[in-house]
Parts: sequence; structure tokens; C-alpha cells
Amino acid sequence: MGSNELEGQTAIILGGANGVGMACAELFARADARVLVADIDAESGRRLADRLDASGQRVRFATCDVRDLDAVQALVDRCEVELGVPDVGLYATGIIKPAPFLDLTVTDFDLVMDVNLRGAVFFFQALARRLVKAGRGGSLVSISSVGGQVAGDSTHAYGTSKAGLIHLAKSMAVSLAPYGIRANSVGPGGVATAMQAHLSPEERHASLSRTPMLRLARPEEIAQVALFLASEASSYVTGQTIFADGGRLALHRTVKVPQ
Ligand SMILES: NC(=O)c1ccc[n+]([C@@H]2O[C@H](COP(=O)([O-])OP(=O)(O)OC[C@H]3O[C@@H](n4cnc5c(N)ncnc54)[C@H](O)[C@@H]3O)[C@@H](O)[C@H]2O)c1
Repeated sequence: MGSNELEGQTAIILGGANGVGMACAELFARADARVLVADIDAESGRRLADRLDASGQRVRFATCDVRDLDAVQALVDRCEVELGVPDVGLYATGIIKPAPFLDLTVTDFDLVMDVNLRGAVFFFQALARRLVKAGRGGSLVSISSVGGQVAGDSTHAYGTSKAGLIHLAKSMAVSLAPYGIRANSVGPGGVATAMQAHLSPEERHASLSRTPMLRLARPEEIAQVALFLASEASSYVTGQTIFADGGRLALHRTVKVPQ
């Protein structure tokens, strides 16, 4: 996918300056969408928008910290003014603050929930309200994780936030179906981005031993699934999470990792 699947459409990609979100911005732009990239990382975001469209007519960047819900909601108005009413909302923003359960702090729990889940709820709400008012359908897509389905011993806040996104796709699908708005999620296993950088060699080995395909995903492989969910190719799919995980959730025990 990636020729003109999003022709005539406008997308907002939150968390789009790096990693999976950046791959989605690149692919959606290649699929002919106009794209508003938003992220807290202004330097990378501006560089990306310039690289994709120096004219600013089809791709733009907006600085946004998703902990500021007014700023999140303002993105919808800004997109409408600068690029058109958004048809697609993609929430790729995410952080991880690993800690054993007995040491988990309220501060870190709140931070992870605010960035990974609370921002998503109110971003999608603002976009859905706009779409309903405009009387048009649309597609809402989040990037969740296998971590929302199976547990680790130090990812309590992260896993809880990702389980929340998986549920949110279902609950928004139910509420918004009458308006022609679909809601889905992509659940990656391990993806080769900065988020993997904190893993020790032992943790990397353990992660691969739980991955039948014995490799991380490239960010573009996750973006392809997001594009499918964003586009008309998935017109009867709503409330789903597609796990692009190299087989992780299908695996009962472990696989042997070659040395
Ligand atoms: N990398 C993996 O192995 C993996 C696996 C499963 C799911 N995911 C999910 O994929 C999504 C993208 O992660 P990634 O791997 O590309 O990591 P990444 O760190 O490269 O990208 C995350 C983006 O979120 C932005 N961000 C962080 N805090 C923000 C805030 N307060 N406001 C606005 N933007 C903020 C960052 O600047 C960055 O651009 C995340 O939701 C992550 O949980 C990643």
C-alpha cells in the first residue's frame, strides 16, 4: 500500500515526529493525504515536514504536548484552517517508564497514562465531534501494543495504558458507528525505534525469544497496517486491534534465538 489510498483525505498524526508515527506520516503523505504532524519534539517534526513537503501545502508540523488537552483539541481547528477538515486521526504518541510494581510511583503512572491514553481519548473526542458536526465519516487509529494484551514485570503503567487503547477502539467503534466513523488500533510487538533503546542485551534476547519471526518490525511495517485501517480498504473493520507482532501473541512458550 502507499500510492493513492488517501487521495483527497487529511490526516492528523500525533506523535508523528519520530519512529512509528514518522513512518506513518511518510506513508500517508505518499498515499496522497494532506498531513498535519504534531509532536512535542519540534526539531524533528519540523525537519520531517520540510523533508516531506517544503512548500507546507500538503504537510505541516505543529508543536503539541499531549498532556495539554487544550493544545490537543486545538489541533483539529488548526488542521481545518491550514489543510482541511481532518478525515483521519492517528495517535502514535507513547512513552514507557519501566518500574517493578512495588516501586511504581504515582507521578510515573500519571505521566504514562496522560501521554499514552488520556491524550488519545480527548484527541479522538475532539476529532469525532468535528466529524459529526461536518456530517462526514472518518477513521480513528491508535498505536497500542502487545503490552496491552500480555503482561511484563516492569510495564504496569504502560501495559495498562495500552489495554486502555485497545478498549477505547472498541468503545469508540460502538459509539461512533452511527456517524460512519470507524475506530481501530495497531498493536505492535517490538519495533526498531528509540523506544527499544532502553533494553539491555538480556532483555533484547528475551524479547526475540518470544518472537517467532526472530526480528523487530521496521516502523514502515507498522505504518502499512495503520494505512490499511485509515483507508477505505478497511471500510467494514471497526473496534479491532490488529497485532502486527511477528507472531508473538500466537506463541505459547519461546523460540530458540540463534547466537
Ligand atoms: N518501539 C516499540 O517496540 C513499540 C512496540 C509496541 C508499541 N509501540 C508504540 O508505538 C508508538 C510509537 O512509539 P515509537 O516506538 O515510535 O517511539 P518513539 O519514541 O520513536 O516515538 C514516540 C513519539 O511520541 C512523542 N511524544 C512523547 N511524549 C509526547 C508528548 N507529551 N506530547 C507529544 N508527543 C510526545 C515523541 O517525541 C516521539 O516522537 C508508541 O505509542 C509506542 O508505545 C512501540
